[in-house]
Amino acid sequence: MRTSMIVMICLFGTIDGARILAIFPYPIKSHYVVYEPLLKALSAKGHEITAVTHFPQKVHLANFTDVDVSSSSMNWTNNRAVDHFSIWTSFKFMLNSKEHCEHVLDRSEVKQIVNAKEHFDLLLSEIFITDCMLGFAHVLNISKIVGVTSTTGLPWLNSIVRNPENPSYIPNFHSSYSDQMSLIERLYNTAVLLISKFVYRIGSDWISYNTAKNYFGYDLPNFDTLRSKISLILINGHPAVSTVRPLAPRVKEIAGIHIPISGPKPLPVDLQDYLDSQSSNGVIYFSLGSQIDMSTIPDQVFAALYRAFEQVPQQILWTCAKGRMPSLPRNVKCIGWAPQLSVLCHPNTRLLINHGGLLGIQEAIYCGVPIIGIPIFGDHFLNMAHVVKKGLALEIKMEEFSYKQFSSSLKEILSNKR
Ligand SMILES: *[C@@H]1O[C@H](CO)[C@@H](O)[C@H](O)[C@H]1NC(C)=O
Ligand SMILES: *[C@@H]1O[C@H](CO)[C@@H](O)[C@H](O)[C@H]1NC(C)=O
Ligand SMILES: *[C@@H]1O[C@H](CO)[C@@H](O)[C@H](O)[C@H]1NC(C)=O
Repeated sequence: MRTSMIVMICLFGTIDGARILAIFPYPIKSHYVVYEPLLKALSAKGHEITAVTHFPQKVHLANFTDVDVSSSSMNWTNNRAVDHFSIWTSFKFMLNSKEHCEHVLDRSEVKQIVNAKEHFDLLLSEIFITDCMLGFAHVLNISKIVGVTSTTGLPWLNSIVRNPENPSYIPNFHSSYSDQMSLIERLYNTAVLLISKFVYRIGSDWISYNTAKNYFGYDLPNFDTLRSKISLILINGHPAVSTVRPLAPRVKEIAGIHIPISGPKPLPVDLQDYLDSQSSNGVIYFSLGSQIDMSTIPDQVFAALYRAFEQVPQQILWTCAKGRMPSLPRNVKCIGWAPQLSVLCHPNTRLLINHGGLLGIQEAIYCGVPIIGIPIFGDHFLNMAHVVKKGLALEIKMEEFSYKQFSSSLKEILSNKR
């Protein structure tokens, strides 16, 4: 009796744990950071994770196998220039879909997954600028697919699951509006929605389907067929941090999933001491995310930032690259990396200055810190439009960045007792 019970327990033990293939093909840290805690939690619950990623674990985890696809040739960390961003920049990015597919599918470690034909119960795949990774579901006969995205609704994502996308009040990834748009803005939002979907079909689908066939075989079903097998899509929104919108049943909003339930982790000793010691005036935390190359910030923007910083009583904690920028004012502390959530939630942190990155915004809202945003590319403009409308942030455009505007925004936020 006892033996059969043990056998039963063992059986259920093995049956319970699913084998999950998770694919994050883009070299963008903030995209992976959203779902990494989910993957880790699944592995801790006994599921077996194989993660194709540019950001492998530093310490080995049980039930977690990394397939490291990072390389110096596609390294976007601190590598992106601050330049004029338009929707065409975004479209050009989509037209590079072939490169994004090949970069991952050409790796021998990845080819091995295809050739080994091991069984997986679930494919978890990032939805962004190409769907070529859905080919894994075909060659490995994976019957369940979950799509995940670290932003809110990409226009082409709506089509997969018939997600409502009424452009009269739902701003899309490529527009920079809140849910209150003027007539002209609605027209623009509508046009951009339709054009984005069209460019995705022609630019991304067409090109990357032909690429995908080289790796997954000429019998690869078309992307529409593969996409129709997606049974759930997780998007990084929530009524508290992004525009409220209706969702199809197969779409779930998960914003904040990357914030530990137990709250921020303890700070390293030196940062804790630094933040503790600024109790009278507090600290301004400044971060432009993981991608921006500081040396490409225009000189006049540096000059305006420095001049305004010199005049505030606060200390400024900046995640920056010292060698790549003019020498800093005395009250600025430059560090390569900071545990952002823990810094933002420290009681002496008064303000976040960032680039409109969604995770920074979510974390600042979680910690109750106001924001000054200088949107630079991608969804930054959309993210800022929402928090500005909610009265949580002020926005300054990079092209119009001036000392006058920046210092008056600082004064407004730092003196507003609201
Ligand atoms: C790994 O999975 C097993 C079940 O397959 C589970 O018992 C164990 O706790 C997991 N290990 C870790 C470190 O999460
Ligand atoms: C990417 O660049 C960053 C800094 O620019 C560096 O720290 C990192 O090691 C590089 N990664 C790879 C895979 O080359
Ligand atoms: C694919 O998986 C299904 C179950 O999900 C199974 O019925 C079918 O036989 C499998 N096909 C192949 C070729 O292994």
